[in-house]
Amino acid sequence: MKRAIMPGTFDPITEGHLDVIRRAAQIFDEVIVAVAQSPHKEPLFTHEERAELARQATESIPNVTVEPFSGLLVEFAKEVEASVVVKGLRAITDFEYEFQMTALNYELANDIETLFIMSPPKFMYLSSSIVREIARLDGDVSQFVSPCVEAALAQKFGLSRARG
Ligand code: PNS
Repeated sequence: MKRAIMPGTFDPITEGHLDVIRRAAQIFDEVIVAVAQSPHKEPLFTHEERAELARQATESIPNVTVEPFSGLLVEFAKEVEASVVVKGLRAITDFEYEFQMTALNYELANDIETLFIMSPPKFMYLSSSIVREIARLDGDVSQFVSPCVEAALAQKFGLSRARG
């Protein structure tokens, strides 16, 4: 029984994340999408909203579940008995940050492996921040996110615009 976690802020979850989650779900028996609190990032969606959107977006993948977490990733991995952390890797700009996190996580818990899955070219430059920016400017994000996320973005920015 191999259980992996796929951590991230998921503000919000995108098709790029979903591609990596689907591929991880074919490799592992169970994948837990671990939604970090990430307060320093001042996310657009609340922790619970991000977890709920991730739940809705992954509900058709049978061996995937979603859990919000706060605190250290390696501690959460131990708590849920996951031995592998799966990360998506996009263009070169991700490398330094991802390598730093992987090295530090290894120092903290060397029995937890980090596995990188490359994003396909069409998602190489997709990010949650780009999606938020397009939605904020009233652009069409339907090819980048699930319908539930598209609706949540429209509501978030619609409401904030209405408030002025
Ligand atoms: O989607 P993101 O924001 O790039 O994901 C970053 C995330 C959530 C994986 C990272 O910030 C994280 O692991 N946060 C949990 C706190 C932690 O363990 N920090 C030390 C990492 S070396």
